[in-house]
Parts: sequence; structure tokens; C-alpha cells
Amino acid sequence: MKLIEAKDYQDMSRKAADIIIDQVKKKPNSVLGLATGGTMIGTYAALVDDYKQNGTSYQQVKTVNLDEYIGLAPEHPNSYHYYMSDHLFNHIDIPKSQTYLPNGLAKDIEAECQRYENLLEQIGGIDLQLLGIGQNGHIGFNEPGTSFESTTHVVELALSTRQANSRFFNRFEEVPTHAITMGIATIMKSKKILLLASGKKKAHIISQLFAGKVTTEIPASILNTHPNVIVIADQEALSLLSPEKRKVYT
Ligand code: PGA
Repeated sequence: MKLIEAKDYQDMSRKAADIIIDQVKKKPNSVLGLATGGTMIGTYAALVDDYKQNGTSYQQVKTVNLDEYIGLAPEHPNSYHYYMSDHLFNHIDIPKSQTYLPNGLAKDIEAECQRYENLLEQIGGIDLQLLGIGQNGHIGFNEPGTSFESTTHVVELALSTRQANSRFFNRFEEVPTHAITMGIATIMKSKKILLLASGKKKAHIISQLFAGKVTTEIPASILNTHPNVIVIADQEALSLLSPEKRKVYT
């Protein structure tokens, strides 16, 4: 893993956007793996700004999202379909037909997981996968204890994850209990991974990530074994990481 230190949320977002823009310029038909959550909003805003100012084109890009809640329609304001349209797809020139997310309303959820996994193969795998990190170390919705061999599957969300995400809903009870997520093996197949972390709430898990111990209790720890991972974290998220450790990874 390589660490890029950012000053604050805005700086992290700008630096992440620069890497994504560079990827799209170098390979206009890139497959981008995308993520949702509070962390990514600034990055998508920076991509939209760049599109408006510099016209970076996404016409040949394909996107695949990590996850979607089960039971929320694409039009539901808390669905990840809605989030992606609202923060990114509606504001750049990507054809909607080239943007993929799991279908949280599928009648046969197991078949939907298989379809999504096959789709990733068909489009040639992910060139650059964007990841947030949960306070419990989850990546996508792969909660602690998930097998490193897992492919796209259904998960029951951890209480802590539902609590963390309830800030986007009117009431805690409205937060879905289940989701479809790419598995850890799916994520690890990505050619390059960009993990973002911002704020004090992420300081503990970031220090655990860089402790280097690989354990299913910290799903993100598997990233220590991937050959091409960049972590961009701001100073608050890095506040529990020693200067020595920071030096090793930068
Ligand atoms: P957040 O979520 O960006 O809203 O903190 C990150 C995650 O849970 O992966």
C-alpha cells in the first residue's frame, strides 16, 4: 500500500479526483469501480467540476458500483442508484447504459449476485476501484468475518453500519437490513485500488489498517496483500498513525 497524505476532506477529494481523471485520460474506456457514502461526495463533485471546466469525457467509460441496499427502488433517494445519478452520472457525459449497480429489487437475489459477478468478467474487470472504509474496517458491505474468498453476495448489515448510515435516512428503522455487495475476492481482482478516509472517526481503523496484520476481523486488512493500492487519508484520519509509520508508506 502507498499512502498519500491529504490536508483535509477537500484536499483528499481533489487528490482522488486527479487520480481518477488521470486514469480516464490514459485509458478512455476504463472500467471504474465506484463507491458511495459521505467520503466520496467531494470526489464526485471534483470530477463534475473538472468535466465542466476541462471536458474530460466519460463516453467510453463503464462504471460498476460496489453495492446496493436490498429493497430500495432506484428512484428511492437513499438508494445507491439515486446517489450515483445525483452526485455523478447526471452531471457528466457517461451513457447511463454503461453504469452498473446491483439490483436491490431482484426477485431472485442469488441469481442477481451471479449476474453481477458475470457482468464484471464480461466487461473485462475493474481498472480502478474506489473504496471507502467503515469504522469497523468493512469495504463495500463486507462486514468483519466475511471470507476473503467471497464473491458478490447478500449481507446482513452490522448494527454499527446501519447506525452510521442512519444519518442519511429520516429514521433508523428505515435503514435497510440487507444489501448486495461485491465480495472481497471480487474487489481484490481490481487492477488498482484507491481507498479514501477522512475525519477523526476513521483514525482508529486507519491505524489498524497500517498495522499490517491481515485478518478477516478487519476486512480492509486484505489490501495489505494487493500489489497496487493507494490510500489517501486526511490529517484527522491519520491522527493515530505514527510519523514513522507514515514514512514507511509514503
Ligand atoms: P462513509 O462510509 O464514506 O459514509 O464514511 C464509508 C464506508 O462505510 O465504506
